[in-house]
Amino acid sequence: MKILITGGAGFIGSNFIRYWLNKYPNDQIINLDVLTYAGNLENLRDLESNKNYQFIKGDIGDAELVNEVVQKGMDLIVHFAAESHVDRSIMDSSDFIKTNVLGTMVLLDAAKNNGKIRFHHISTDEVFGALTPKDKPFNESTPYAPRSPYSASKAASDHLVRAYFHTHKLPITISNCSNNYGPYQFPEKIIPLFITNLLERKKVPVYGRGKNVRDWIYVDDHNAGIDAVIKKGKIGETYCLGGGQEITNLELTGRIIKLMGQDRTMIEYVADRPGHDLRYAMDYTKAKKELGWEPAMSFDRGLKQTIDWYKAHEAWWRKIKSGEYLEYYKKNYLKR
Ligand code: NAD
Ligand code: TYD
Repeated sequence: MKILITGGAGFIGSNFIRYWLNKYPNDQIINLDVLTYAGNLENLRDLESNKNYQFIKGDIGDAELVNEVVQKGMDLIVHFAAESHVDRSIMDSSDFIKTNVLGTMVLLDAAKNNGKIRFHHISTDEVFGALTPKDKPFNESTPYAPRSPYSASKAASDHLVRAYFHTHKLPITISNCSNNYGPYQFPEKIIPLFITNLLERKKVPVYGRGKNVRDWIYVDDHNAGIDAVIKKGKIGETYCLGGGQEITNLELTGRIIKLMGQDRTMIEYVADRPGHDLRYAMDYTKAKKELGWEPAMSFDRGLKQTIDWYKAHEAWWRKIKSGEYLEYYKKNYLKR
């Protein structure tokens, strides 16, 4: 099978490519990625000599290029490319609309116009809005209610993908997943930011009082879920994927601090994120029943493994933290 992966130089995309080529070594993968601040070819160094892997630098919004790539005979498109950080979308929404909405449209058109290529869209639980502590977790019937520019752009892309199924009979599936963690996650997201700060003996900035809840999933459990949807999912359908692991940010911070042998004086409470969603949680019953998928990694083991990975890959994150990322960090939330 010949597969186009978009955004494969980012966190989940790079883990997915490695997962897929391990499991299906005879498949061919083309990775189309424009290499924004979050795209990093270091994430895929070990695959560069693999004859079934090819990287193409380019923007998913570039219709000419996307058509050219798709015409290389793709059987499947797995669409990860996105602007993915909520805080950045609060500062400036424009790239979120360009890539997440317009870029998705360009890809959908290319899939439609080149023989209706099977299209799997990667989305998020954030499209469903925010839960109160008493609410049941989100599922496939939860109405869309995005609240940040990031989640609004992802919601728009989900609607477009479904519209191409209904209008053009494009064979699509969508997976909406909860918060991922694991190796190669860009150190602006809470888990890698806090681990690397602690390795640098810096404090960790907890937004508000740290009461917000997220449902954490290990990245390869997400990848296995995407695999299950691609191989066994029903065309036109959406599948919710989650880690079954809800935890407040403060509890999460406490666990990271403990695993790293430090103490709670490392916590710094900073101004809250505007419009900060209180709680996300996913009910993955449909994926379990219909696809036989469920997350396998316990949070304790996954967190320890992730901390060990960041300890062992100091050069990787130090290079990122000394570059453009640091400018962003200084300019934005350190000032709040
Ligand atoms: P990431 O920010 O680490 O990576 C995004 C990748 O997309 C980068 O390599 C970047 O260079 C590339 N990209 C951005 N704009 C592009 C463009 N215009 N053309 C081509 N490439 C472009 O993101 P991630 O955390 O790996 O997320 C991947 C996908 O999974 C996103 O669609 C995101 O919405 C979704 N998702 C993420 C999470 C999570 O917890 N990280 C959870 C659920 C869903
Ligand atoms: P994040 O990793 O940005 O993912 P998302 O906003 O997509 O859920 O944030 C996860 C949670 O951690 C969220 O409730 C915001 C909080 N957070 C902090 O408290 N401090 C931080 O420095 C960051 C980046 C996030």
